Amino acid sequence: MTTPATTDGATDAGLVLGPVLRHVDASSATVWVEVTRPGTVTVRAGEHVGSAPTFTAHGHHFALVDVTGLPAGAHLPYEVLVDDTTVWPPPRSLFPPSALRTLDHLRPLRIVFGTCRASVPHDRRTNRRYGIDVLRALALRLADGGPPEPGGPDGGWPSLVLFLGDQVYADETSDAMREHISHHRDLTVEPGEELANFGEYAHLYRLSWSEPTVRWALSTLPSAMMFDDHDVRDDWNTSHAWREQMRATTWWRGRIVGGLASYWIYQHLGNLSPAQRADDAVWQKVQAAGGDDVGPLLDAFAGEADDDPTAYRWSYARDVCGTRLVVVDARAARVTEPARRAMLDDVELAWLDRHLVGGHDHLLLATSIPFLLPTGLHHLEAWNEAVAGGAWGRRAAGWAETVRQAFDLEHWGAFQRSFRRVSELVAEVAAGERGPAPATVTFLSGDVHHSYLVEADLPRGPGRSRVLQAVCSPIRNPLPQVMRFVTATLAYGVAGGGGRLMSRVTGVEPPPWTWRVEAGPWFDNAMATLDIDGREATLAWETAREGSRDDHLLWCPVHRTRLA
Ligand SMILES: [Fe+2]
Repeated sequence: MTTPATTDGATDAGLVLGPVLRHVDASSATVWVEVTRPGTVTVRAGEHVGSAPTFTAHGHHFALVDVTGLPAGAHLPYEVLVDDTTVWPPPRSLFPPSALRTLDHLRPLRIVFGTCRASVPHDRRTNRRYGIDVLRALALRLADGGPPEPGGPDGGWPSLVLFLGDQVYADETSDAMREHISHHRDLTVEPGEELANFGEYAHLYRLSWSEPTVRWALSTLPSAMMFDDHDVRDDWNTSHAWREQMRATTWWRGRIVGGLASYWIYQHLGNLSPAQRADDAVWQKVQAAGGDDVGPLLDAFAGEADDDPTAYRWSYARDVCGTRLVVVDARAARVTEPARRAMLDDVELAWLDRHLVGGHDHLLLATSIPFLLPTGLHHLEAWNEAVAGGAWGRRAAGWAETVRQAFDLEHWGAFQRSFRRVSELVAEVAAGERGPAPATVTFLSGDVHHSYLVEADLPRGPGRSRVLQAVCSPIRNPLPQVMRFVTATLAYGVAGGGGRLMSRVTGVEPPPWTWRVEAGPWFDNAMATLDIDGREATLAWETAREGSRDDHLLWCPVHRTRLA
């Protein structure tokens, strides 16, 4: 696997970032771009052409271009124009042409997923700290293999890449990000080296997505995304106390408003089909702005979305090739008031309830943070929630809150009410009580900087689903060696019996069903590939290592297993 030489000259020609290939189905494809000036953006794939005017937010110009009427299973090389100027592909690119790649319901489905990707350089020195960027390694492998054969097997190309959180780190910045910030404000004044506003987020996305190999990958692999805490800040919405701490700062409002408004543009809009986007009330307002800068409009929307979790739904669902994919917002939908504490507000939970049904070959439930942790850790989080909620009195509650924030005890286990309800829904799907049972109900998650596979101890057999939790993290942000040891020892060892005992003495009810770790943990940078062919499914975790030469990467299997 070698790095093709390329030039990144597209920026000068009018393109700031992108193109990013986003929502794709069997007959349409959506391309996202950020450009240097207002205008009309056109995507041309042979005779198939789509155009859209730009919209402007805080002085940045964006467009989403839908190309419709495409044949299923197509691989159509495309170019991007701003008004009459071709801005993509870049001149002298040695990558294969970026292509609109539509789904084909008759072909197997390949979903690649991962989380937690630091935006740092790719030299050997940086690789020693962060490891190889597995997204970049995947892109190089695909580029080396050339485009998939028309009409033939898909040549290993993903039908969809799912980025399930911490796509950008707004709280842990790189040298390049800090240098950018230092040109605009004083780094010794809060929030210091962390991001402050929309403009800084725009630069962070640019740093994250403009490395030429990654940029090419994003231009030609359909993608879907969901935020996690670091897209905003570590521990985002872990508790009411955390929200109060943030609100007491001078900078939090700018951060959350900039974080959510930029997320809506850079990540969320492309998750939606053209029809879903047309139905989106915020998109309708943006379209009605008539070329005015919609920054203030989006800031107001983002502030409201933070104040009231029911104000906007970031979750989305789609049916692809017989499989239902439900991507759940496990951050902004949280209710943190102690009396009503929930991972999902009532509106969100009702939406999830409607979408967790059978009648599909597989049901994939993507949630940035794992639904099923190793059981000891799960019980520890349940115990911590109970104590922080006052089960052992006020003084212990304050201490438990400190422990919660220090050790990230904030997964589904720390939101017992929601955990139990979703567990019940999943058990009903798996038992065939909500329509014919899928072959698998599989949670896809990341966040925890290691990977593993968990299986639920639910009845198996004809007419029932296998229930699994697949975790893949990080794409590029590994734990230091000492933390790997601590995690393996505590989460997979010590916490086992202790956590269960502690949660029982605080009166936490046992979970509706139990589960066990089937494989893992692995601590390498990784991306996971889920291959679905009808009711059959296999899952493989892979990593990448440096080869003997500077530009040579080795693609390495970590674990492969058959799910159904
Ligand atoms: Fe996270």
